[in-house]
Parts: sequence; structure tokens; C-alpha cells
Amino acid sequence: MSIFDEIVDRTVVAGEKWGRYQSQDVIPMWVADTDFKAPKAIINALHVRVEHGVFGYTGVDKKTNQAVVDFIQRHYNWQIKSEWIVWLPGVVSGMNITCKAIKCQDVITTTPIYPHFIKAPQHANQNVIQVPIIEKLNRWTIDFDEFEKAITPTCKLFMFCNPHNPGGTVFTKDELEKLSQICIKYDLVICSDEIHADLILNKEAKHIPIASLNDKIAKRSITLLAPSKTFNIAGLQSSYAVIPDVNLRKNFRRTLGNLTSQINLLAISATHTAYTLCDDWLYELRYYLKENLNLVQEFVLNEPKLKLLNQDATYLAWIDVSALNLKNPYEYFLSYGVGLSGGDGFGDKKFVRLNFGTTKMLLKEGLKRFKIAIDSL
Ligand SMILES: Cc1ncc(COP(=O)(O)O)c(C=O)c1O
Repeated sequence: MSIFDEIVDRTVVAGEKWGRYQSQDVIPMWVADTDFKAPKAIINALHVRVEHGVFGYTGVDKKTNQAVVDFIQRHYNWQIKSEWIVWLPGVVSGMNITCKAIKCQDVITTTPIYPHFIKAPQHANQNVIQVPIIEKLNRWTIDFDEFEKAITPTCKLFMFCNPHNPGGTVFTKDELEKLSQICIKYDLVICSDEIHADLILNKEAKHIPIASLNDKIAKRSITLLAPSKTFNIAGLQSSYAVIPDVNLRKNFRRTLGNLTSQINLLAISATHTAYTLCDDWLYELRYYLKENLNLVQEFVLNEPKLKLLNQDATYLAWIDVSALNLKNPYEYFLSYGVGLSGGDGFGDKKFVRLNFGTTKMLLKEGLKRFKIAIDSL
């Protein structure tokens, strides 16, 4: 039995994922957090911090910055400097600050995509150029020619998601190099949201931070990272931008100003512990999630009307349900007790997104209900 088999009753805590369906017989498989307890080391560190009893203003200390530097070096072979780090309470804040900081008329991104890639530029009164991701060799990727063609003279920012949510793609070195060449050619800043970087499930795939490719791309990059998805501590609100170029960083910091507050003191303890003591937990998590992904893929293979491309990362499966001809897939599956994310939120209503970051028992029950729903058509 795995530690990830433990069922934790999340209905007793008001919150997003389970709170939405509190009094209904629904298995929530939507918002991107998992149903797993955070690593014991993090829980212990939080106990220690709470026991201290004084919760005054607390900045991020040197050793936590160093823990980030070391974690990124250890896992991604990218040597960053601690002064490149700008702490943020959330990656979404980082996306919004970036759009405000890079003053331009158009922002380019690939769709379907996590909704804030569209919302953040809109909040900054920017137009969003949406380039559809394409299916190639049974995997979601980018049509680089179409991407390049779509760039306008007034576009100065590319909002990139790697690993991709919802497509689950981990972009290869070759793909990243193509993108970086385009960004250099058209003088684009690249904001790379890599929040899912630690959740690589396929042993052959490797996460490469685009900024780590070379100095030229590093100079035009804002990489957004966090321990939140990995260690299931999103509610603690810890994330950060890595900005190697001093002027870009100054611009980002100036725009940030005091719009958001510091990350909170519990987040600091949790982040330090996550990045120093939890590698083994992370390896076990990846193993468990890979088994869950296998279950989802097997399930889809047995359902001729469903389609799921290969994915290398995340606990989110982007399932094409168009062959079922449903008016509202989200509502339909909900009526059978499965709380998925409707694809419309990401830009394609013919899809649903299934979060398999849960115990095998709940995943199997969710898939059973999914099947009953399909068989009832
Ligand atoms: C790609 C991506 N970016 C950002 C976020 C949210 O980040 P945060 O909670 O740190 O704002 C999510 C959450 O699902 C995500 O999938």
C-alpha cells in the first residue's frame, strides 16, 4: 500500500475542490490540486513554526532562497542566482504582473490553455493572439510556422505553459530551441509558467526550463515556479519568478510594487522543507501518478468514443469527448456523479479535463461513473 492510498476526508474543510459538491454524491476531479496529504516533513515543519507562536511580519530568509537555488540545480540542472528570485503569493499573480510590466498591444499564447493565460493579458488591456496547439505523433505540440506567422509587430510577450495545462506535454529541447529562436527573432519576452515542472510522469521525458537553454533566452525570460502543485500546498501560497536579467527584474519588481503582499510565513517554512527534505516523497508521488495515468489511459482505450493523447506530465488528462455529441459535457458527467472541468474554461468545449491526482480507489470509482454515463447515452 502506498502513502497516497490514504483517503483524507476533505469535506470537513471548507474549500474549493470538495467544497463545491459538499452535500452531493460527486467525486470532484476538477481544480488542479491533489487529494494527498503534504509530506510529513512539511506538516512537521508547520507544527514547529506554529508552536513558535509569534507570527509577525516575516520575510523570506537566505536559507529558503538557497533551497530554491539548489532544488532547481538538482532537478533541472539550471544554475540560478538567489537574487534572480522574486517571491509571489501565486503564479497567477506573476502572470498578471508580467502582462502589466511588458507594455505591448498584443500577447501571444497557445490554446486551449489554463484560463489565466487569456485573463492576465485582458486585465492589462492587451489583445490575446491565440495559436491552437496541434496533434502530432499522438501528442499535443505547437505548429511553429503558424506560431511565427501569428506574431504581430505590436506583440512583445509570449505566455508559455510548460509542461502544458491542459495538454500534458513536456516540450523537448528541440521544440524549446525553436520557440526561443522565434522569441529572439521577434524580440519577445517569454513568460514561462513551469508550475507543473516537477510532475513529469514519463521516465523518458525531461523538464527543461526554457531559460536554461542559453544566455540570450535567459535575458528575455520570466520563469514562474512553485512548490504548490508538487507538494500539494497551493493553499499556503508560495511561488516565485526567476528573472535573470536585471532590467527585466527591476521592471517586474516595480510593477509588482505592493500590489501583492509577501508570501506568508507558513509558506516560507513549507517551501524550505519541500525543497530540502522531500525529494523521495516526490519520486513516490510521480510513481503513483504514473500508475493513475495508466488507469486513465486504459479506460480511454476501451471507450472508442473517447480520445486522449499521450502525455508526459501533470495529473490532468485532457479528454476529447466530441464523439459523444453532448450539449454540455460538464453537466452531463456531473449528473452521473463525476465533477470534471468543462473544456470550455480552457477554450474547447468538446473536451473535459479529468484530475487524476487522487487515491486509486476514488479514481476507479470516478472512472466507473464515467463509464456508466457513457453507457447510458
Ligand atoms: C499552468 C498553471 N499556472 C498557474 C496555476 C495556478 O497557480 P497559483 O495557484 O500559484 O496562482 C495553475 C493551477 O492550476 C496552473 O495549472
